[in-house]
Amino acid sequence: MISIEEARSRLDLAGQSHILQFWDELGAEERNRFLADLSYLDPEELRDHCRGAAEAASRCSSPQDRLDELMEPVPMEFIGGVCRSDKKTLDDWENEGFLQISLNRVAVLLLAGGQGTRLGVPYPKGMYNVGLPSGKTLYQIQAERIRKVQELASTRHDSMCKVPWYIMTSEFTLEPTEKFFKENNYFNLDPSDVVMFEQRMIPAVTFDGKVILEGKGKIAMAPDGNGGLYRALVDNGILEDMKKRGVQYLHVYCVDNILVKMADPVFIGFCVKKGADCGAKVVEKAYPAEPVGVVCRVDGVYQVVEYSEVLPETTALRGPGGGLLYSAGNICNHFFTLEFLMDVAQNFEGKLKQHVALKKVPFVDAKGTAVKPDKPNGIKMEKFVFDVFQFSRNFVVFEVLREEEFSPLKNADGAPVDTPTTARRSLLNQHYRWVLAAEASFVDPQRESISPPKSGWVHISSHLLWTCHIFSCKMSKLQTEVVHYINETDV
Ligand code: UD1
Repeated sequence: MISIEEARSRLDLAGQSHILQFWDELGAEERNRFLADLSYLDPEELRDHCRGAAEAASRCSSPQDRLDELMEPVPMEFIGGVCRSDKKTLDDWENEGFLQISLNRVAVLLLAGGQGTRLGVPYPKGMYNVGLPSGKTLYQIQAERIRKVQELASTRHDSMCKVPWYIMTSEFTLEPTEKFFKENNYFNLDPSDVVMFEQRMIPAVTFDGKVILEGKGKIAMAPDGNGGLYRALVDNGILEDMKKRGVQYLHVYCVDNILVKMADPVFIGFCVKKGADCGAKVVEKAYPAEPVGVVCRVDGVYQVVEYSEVLPETTALRGPGGGLLYSAGNICNHFFTLEFLMDVAQNFEGKLKQHVALKKVPFVDAKGTAVKPDKPNGIKMEKFVFDVFQFSRNFVVFEVLREEEFSPLKNADGAPVDTPTTARRSLLNQHYRWVLAAEASFVDPQRESISPPKSGWVHISSHLLWTCHIFSCKMSKLQTEVVHYINETDV
């Protein structure tokens, strides 16, 4: 740990000496904690970060920084996808995906370092229970899907394969996530196959480039965005770990999509067969203002333009067929080869764009009084996970059906979209469709036949918890054709 003299001189160098303005008022323990935090700050990096943030914020509303003029949609013929392909092609991709999984070449990587401010719960989003009859949390659903995909690949190829689960957390989410997994016995996954690591945190800055103090002895810090992944992979030796395990392909996804297909064999197989080093799953964007990024070309280069960084007029543009011109909605499901990630880590990480987010950051004022601002007062700089697409040598886009693969949990109930209620309904509706497709019949607890329940009422779960009892499904059909991602089929 550094001394107070050293801290003072570093902060002077960075132009941030105000950070120690309450030093004399701090107790011994607080001082130690503060100095420990300050010892991580490199003065030059801090100076550049603060300057850069203030400059970027002053520029962010200026027209010359807008991408709208440079955007063009992804050509339709470039997009592969579920609806655009026949059964044989889809089967080929799925077979390839399962083969790669069975050879232990596939891992999943969860981005779970976000603070989930919109949902407004004081714990990591993955621990959220959306109110399914089984009471399963997002983490449990994801863990069970990993087990299922391992089991299916193992059965097909007579192997005992593993799909390691890498989980990127942040200072906010690491401890509770670890505790939750331990308490739940890692949802019956092998703990050595669940690798948690932490992304970096960076200071929030005022519009005039000063670090914000959240307390008299505490800097307001925030995770460096989900594009902090690439530094975190290096900081924590994760790329080496992947190499040691023989992993070659990564499915990277965000925590809040209740329908996420873990290590989706079709998507993996599609990307592998196309020789891609990088790929993105998309769904057709539902309406102009939907808060999803769009995959498009900017100045001829593939990238995602985030919903917050494009004008409403641009999102509302229509193509020749009447649909949205920018319709390739990013669902934060990405494919990367390990080789590509290594290349990014070595050669491109420093070139990733810093995005500006203007936020309400609680702070202490000059008198040391805690203030909760009611309008944005601070800048948080973030890198985005998809900003590496531009460095890809062979980038592919794969379109999937929204009702099968995308229903994110972003907001608390009461909001019009992306709430616990909409997420729960999406999953139950999907199970209903699966059961109908399997030609199941429905019976009451006395085994009397009843007419099919309403959609949204069927929940297939390992714990036999569903709102309607289903006894006489044609099990073989259900197993082979429909229940790829369910933990158990003991309905
Ligand atoms: C994200 C995508 C957006 C996409 C949408 C689909 C990014 C930058 N944006 O937007 O294009 O249409 O999902 O739902 O990917 N996270 C971290 N560390 C951080 C910040 C976030 O790990 O510092 C994680 C979150 O925990 C979450 C994921 O990244 O799992 C996405 O973050 P979130 O803030 O939910 O992104 P959106 O704005 O919804």
